[in-house]
Amino acid sequence: MAAAVWQGGEVLSSVIHEQHAVHRPYGGVVPELASRDHIRHVSQVVDAALDDAGVAVGELGGIGVTAGPGLIGSLLVGLCFGKALAYRMGVPVVGVHHLIGHLVSAELEDPSLRPPYLGLVVSGGHTALYRIEADGAPKLMGETRDDAVGEAFDKVAKLLGLAYPGGPAIAAAAREGDATAIDFPRPMLRKPGFDFSFSGLKTAVAVEVEGRGALSVQEVADVAASFEAAAVGALVARSARALRAEGLDRLVVVGGVAANARLRTELEAKGRARGFQSVFPPLRYCTDNAAMIAATAARLIGRGERHGLDLNAFSRAPLGGAPGVPGDRVPLPS
Ligand code: KG4
Ligand code: ZN
Repeated sequence: MAAAVWQGGEVLSSVIHEQHAVHRPYGGVVPELASRDHIRHVSQVVDAALDDAGVAVGELGGIGVTAGPGLIGSLLVGLCFGKALAYRMGVPVVGVHHLIGHLVSAELEDPSLRPPYLGLVVSGGHTALYRIEADGAPKLMGETRDDAVGEAFDKVAKLLGLAYPGGPAIAAAAREGDATAIDFPRPMLRKPGFDFSFSGLKTAVAVEVEGRGALSVQEVADVAASFEAAAVGALVARSARALRAEGLDRLVVVGGVAANARLRTELEAKGRARGFQSVFPPLRYCTDNAAMIAATAARLIGRGERHGLDLNAFSRAPLGGAPGVPGDRVPLPS
């Protein structure tokens, strides 16, 4: 759960209430516990964001809320709170698409960033490549056929007995390991198209771990590093191929896995060799945050977009597909 205040092109505050402790005993997010925790904390998280920004609630010019995709219970808590606050204060409310928020997060690093570009969305729930057209409309080029890459990081971390969430834990263990120790399969490399697949890699890690019995600290590090190299290798190869096919020279990498240091280093090296540039959000805005939602909402409101109090939440909201989901394109400045 997160809240942020945005003003004049700047993040005034960004508060994140982590739920890791709630979900850690289960090794993954439990939806019902997530929404209950949202209800308990929404009011204080919004208050903290206003306090940090030094802004009174009456000074808000509009409110943005994530409308989807995501866990419906958690989305509804934020949506109802946002709509109620907007109604009370007499200001506009807009629903923001979670993945569009992630794409806009790259502008918090480079405010001059404008489409067209290739967007690589890599998080716990999504792994997809989009061509973002000059008008901000996304076109899906490829996506995972099974697990999201962040989900693979989380599951492999669990196999290795590392803490949840797994991405940062794997990255930390991998720093001490040898990435060439085990030659894990690089998913889909020989397949045409731009889809991804990570469940085979996860299974290969499970088989390797089972075959070894109790792992030493060094073995955990080696498995983590070898897994990370295979997963990152697949993302880099697919992205480079898509850039070439689309004649684009800019890759925007967003979502929790965009925080991964190996992914950043390897994309930068590949970009130098192939002549493309990669843009990543600041580290603190890679994983889920409200600054990216506030930045997107401010732009939508600035463009005159308004959603009614009948605005609903969407658990599934594919980009570049079915209409009806609010804010399903990257908004350009007006
Ligand atoms: O965008 P995000 O916060 O939430 C979703 O919308 O899913 O992404 C969370 C995902 C988790 O799977 C987490 O393990 C992964 O991002 N992650 C990382 C790193 N930091 C977070 N994966 C690899 N390396 C990291 N440094
Ligand atoms: Zn996310």
